[in-house]
Amino acid sequence: MEKELNEEVVLPTDTFASEIDAGLSASPKAISSRYFYDAEGDRLFQKIMQLDEYYLSRAEYAIFDQNKELLLQHFADQGRAFHMMEFGAGDGWKTKVLLHHFVQQHADFDYRPIDISGNVLEELESSLTNELPSLQVQGMEGEYFEVLSQMQKTDEQRKVVLFLGSNIGNFRQKQAIGFLSTLRASLTDGDMALIGFDMKKDPHVIRSAYDDAQGVTRDFNMNLLRRLNTELGANFDLARFKHYQSYDPESGECKSYLVSTEEQEVTMQASQAAYHFKKWEPIHVEISRKFDFETINELAASSGFDVVKNLRDKDEYFTDSLWVAT
Ligand code: AVJ
Repeated sequence: MEKELNEEVVLPTDTFASEIDAGLSASPKAISSRYFYDAEGDRLFQKIMQLDEYYLSRAEYAIFDQNKELLLQHFADQGRAFHMMEFGAGDGWKTKVLLHHFVQQHADFDYRPIDISGNVLEELESSLTNELPSLQVQGMEGEYFEVLSQMQKTDEQRKVVLFLGSNIGNFRQKQAIGFLSTLRASLTDGDMALIGFDMKKDPHVIRSAYDDAQGVTRDFNMNLLRRLNTELGANFDLARFKHYQSYDPESGECKSYLVSTEEQEVTMQASQAAYHFKKWEPIHVEISRKFDFETINELAASSGFDVVKNLRDKDEYFTDSLWVAT
């Protein structure tokens, strides 16, 4: 078992501070959802995945459980060796269904999880050491794009890249095409990608998934402000902000905001700046897009992939789309 956390690609704090500064100075105000994931953010997201309302992880788990044989047939294609990479691996709950099956079938592969949280990677690696001691694992901590550009083309072995959980929904269509094209450029013809998409469905089901009764999603969003206080020396008063969630069934855009409940000024040491909030002014903190098949096809076609198969759960809530680089 290798344990190489790549420290070089950790996001430097000055980028963090300057991005937050730009976001809070802009109109409308916005902060990237990538900053949710510190240790507390990771913990809260794990809690979200257990919520009755948050159907996404369960739906994708069911898809994997039902299709693990089929996926191995496609990934290993006549018993070929392959690298299985995963962007934003998290705790690996869903991926472990595949890993257990692949190891049991003596598939010739290794697993390379990539995550922006070194925290989560270490936990994933040590749990895999216990559960699947024969599995070869090499975790890499970093930004997907940076790690992508470090992927070497010299290795002949097939690459299969997993991007699950509808993480792709955090990008708008243009950004998603940019991301997937960058991914495509680091792959060879015949390499594969498995992308998880949360589908358009009853708008009430979607809204509840992002505005749960227990308020875990609210805490997850608010944690961002707490993080700015502790890491960047900001002085957000969390009692003066509210979490608000919207879903537009037309565009499929599910958006989270932190809304200032009064006119106020917030200062931040890292940027030496003050930010003015009007009463009810929002900070946009996340977009979680919901998809249909036209949009999925457009994404694949525009970024250099063919859709091999769309795998769905019984409720048709979620789709894992298997693509081949062409
Ligand atoms: C991990 C980005 C897929 O957008 O559904 C969960 C994060 N945000 N609840 C999502 C999230 C609020 C999640 N992703």
